[in-house]
Amino acid sequence: MSDLYLKFVNTPAGKSVAQSLGLPSPVNLKRWKRSDQPFIEGDVLLGAANGAIAINSLGNTLTASAAKLHHASGVESLADSAKASTKAQPLELTADISTKLSALVFDATGISGPQGLRALYDFFHPTIRKLAGSGRVLVVGLDPAHCKAPAQAAAQRALEGFVRSVGKEIGKKGATANLAWIAPGADKELDSTVRFFLSPRSAYVSGQFVRIGKAGKAASATNPVAPLAGKVALVTGASRGIGESIADTLARDGATVIALDIPAALEGLEKVAERVKGKALACDITAPEAPKLIADFVEQQFGGIDLIIHNAGITRDKTLGNMPEHFWDMTIAVNLTAEELINDELAERKLIRENARIVCISSISGIAGNFGQTNYSTAKCGVIGYVEAMAKELKNGVTINAIAPGFIETQMTAAMPVTIREAGRRMNSLSQGGLPVDVAETIGWYCHPQSGGINGNVVRVCGQSLIGK
Ligand code: NAI
Repeated sequence: MSDLYLKFVNTPAGKSVAQSLGLPSPVNLKRWKRSDQPFIEGDVLLGAANGAIAINSLGNTLTASAAKLHHASGVESLADSAKASTKAQPLELTADISTKLSALVFDATGISGPQGLRALYDFFHPTIRKLAGSGRVLVVGLDPAHCKAPAQAAAQRALEGFVRSVGKEIGKKGATANLAWIAPGADKELDSTVRFFLSPRSAYVSGQFVRIGKAGKAASATNPVAPLAGKVALVTGASRGIGESIADTLARDGATVIALDIPAALEGLEKVAERVKGKALACDITAPEAPKLIADFVEQQFGGIDLIIHNAGITRDKTLGNMPEHFWDMTIAVNLTAEELINDELAERKLIRENARIVCISSISGIAGNFGQTNYSTAKCGVIGYVEAMAKELKNGVTINAIAPGFIETQMTAAMPVTIREAGRRMNSLSQGGLPVDVAETIGWYCHPQSGGINGNVVRVCGQSLIGK
């Protein structure tokens, strides 16, 4: 369902009506358009608090980009910014800055206590108003779980509050702010994350943090236009909505897709499978024979699987006292139990290949809870618990992560009552709903061969919804 208000407000008449009535004025977000599109263009400013450990890696990724790279200059607390790259031009922060910046990237890994947080102010205060529409803020810190000294843990954790607030301040211009927390020695794993968060692929991801550890297995060399070439992906619930977009996106990135959905959705499913040059598999994932049927299909057709995307989901909303038992049972079975049983069968039969990626779709309802959704929120919160526990068990470079979408424009949300739908769309920093492709692009980032250090995370694709943590 299209967002008519978003269209209206982006006309000259609509803009002035919204302004005079004080209504939200969401902007059209810039999304990924062409396979050869650079991940970032324009002028990018890189800065670092003194003692930074990721500045070289960030400098390398940005020097290889199409952007013109500048490093912060003229401020004592940011002296390490000059280590960014010999190709970066100094940008004097004490003078008037006339350049519009498409991204502000800050390495905060060197901050070892609360006093050091001043470097955030020194870098962002003179530059934040120069951030372009649909611009990007990315802060890189040290994972507080790896900080031994309480002062350091406090300062590094503080970055989360900073980034979340920046996201709220810049959202009205379609810009986003995110945080990558690295483990010691994991700065080499940052590349795919920097490319994702600075690119139009992350248009609807804001106010999020991701923890990056050392990758279990070295990433293989990648083809930038088709990073998933040679990979086989299973996408459940692929006949429509978010699943359809995931199938399209993974196929665009080079994967061969097994598109799975219930037999009743076969017509749509076959169209998707044909379009992505993949295979259609009609199967109800809650059927007792489903895990075996899926594993047999994977084994016979491909001999193994690289990407497992548990997207199929249902809602059966009722307040708890009014909820029939089959609403409870079905919702838990589709959204949670089936994922575990399918993974178990594939793992037991050794069909999950080295460096595989498992991605489970949770929901903002699983984080915040929702009226009338005790069953759905239980299942989707269970998905988070499952991902966090599994992340510690997986071997051979296999990772598992979750995505918690907020309000995404699909048939599921089109079925909501109009007042709840409008509230869902607007109650976020970007004042609009996301598109299925926003979830799909985030999955593409998790699945990237160089995202091996990303394991056990839950990233929300919600435009920084006001609901939940
Ligand atoms: P949708 O209803 O458009 O698509 C879900 C797909 O899953 C359908 O094609 C359906 O046939 C399939 N499916 C349902 N039960 C199945 C079963 N037993 N076996 C196999 N396939 C089955 O939903 P949408 O919006 O695309 O959602 C995709 C995922 O994202 C779901 O897990 C949903 O809970 C989650 N989500 C969606 C949000 C949104 O705003 N649309 C927000 C938060 C989470």
